[in-house]
Amino acid sequence: MSKDHDISSRNTLTRRLRRLRGLDATRRLVRETRLSISDLVYPLFVNEGISERQPIPSMPGIYRFPLSELEQEVTEISSLKIPAVLLFGLPEKKDSVGTEAYAANGIVQRAISLVKKTVPQLAVISDVCLCQYTDHGHCGVVKDRLIDNDETLKLLSRIAVSHARAGADIVGPSAMMDGQVKAIRDGLDVNGLNCTAIMGYSAKFASSFYGPFREAAKSTPLWGDRHTYQMDPANKNEALREIAIDIEEGADIVMVKPALAYLDILSQARCRFDTPIAAFNVSGEYAMIKAAAEKGWLNEKAVVIEALRSMRRAGADIIITYFAKTIAHQLREAPE
Ligand code: PBG
Ligand code: ZN
Repeated sequence: MSKDHDISSRNTLTRRLRRLRGLDATRRLVRETRLSISDLVYPLFVNEGISERQPIPSMPGIYRFPLSELEQEVTEISSLKIPAVLLFGLPEKKDSVGTEAYAANGIVQRAISLVKKTVPQLAVISDVCLCQYTDHGHCGVVKDRLIDNDETLKLLSRIAVSHARAGADIVGPSAMMDGQVKAIRDGLDVNGLNCTAIMGYSAKFASSFYGPFREAAKSTPLWGDRHTYQMDPANKNEALREIAIDIEEGADIVMVKPALAYLDILSQARCRFDTPIAAFNVSGEYAMIKAAAEKGWLNEKAVVIEALRSMRRAGADIIITYFAKTIAHQLREAPE
């Protein structure tokens, strides 16, 4: 008998998972999750009263835009085939009840209509909150140093209606007030805006990873913190309850935020709910990678793909990320 057919010399391993790892082609065939440009949402800061874009020091590559530079920026985003932007407004004037947040001619309302006029095919999601617009920097109406939930609901509903009237396709309440999705759905519907979708910032944790965003959006609370409304980072079951409630109240998309330190929440939410889920890869997650890459300690392109892919693997349908433009360039050249 030739040695080739000598069964006694046959190695007994029957499972050799390395067989399909030998070629990029076979790895691609058996890849379980893919990152695609179609998953991405790019956040944009629009600032009233500035004449040129301002860099944000803790977020290299990210800017506050004046309305005058917005057209060019969203044209580029749309040509990269990124499906949506998430708009944050920075008003010139703040007051105790955030009046500019629901002004028909406010900065974000003007930005929304400009984007829809420039690139109608680009979906516009608007952040619905008060913190950039209030002089105290909290996400709600303050009474005796407490955040009044139900007074805030009335304003959130007005804000959402003003965004929808300006042309927003999706409104994203991020204030973490109880009942915010219901209040907004009711407000939209009684105003004949039943085609506007709601993306609830459902499981939004009181996270220190929002640090760079608060610098960018000038929204750091003047006193206290956000622990009375945003979630305790220790809680998983409560996060699932928040998501369940938002779905009951009519959310079309739910969100887990931040993403990287909360992949377990994403994963469990994916198992339990069939509603589309968004992961918000927040400012601090962006800043960490940027800082290490600038020092030459990490390969930025590689770790960004790895980090975003982990969000898809955990179950996210949508990834909101400041890396969207860079990744779109990368994925265009080398789709997964
Ligand atoms: C405001 C808001 C925040 C973020 C999105 N909307 C900050 C906060 O809650 O303090 C964070 C986004 C990021 O860090 O990238 N409600
Ligand atoms: Zn807020």
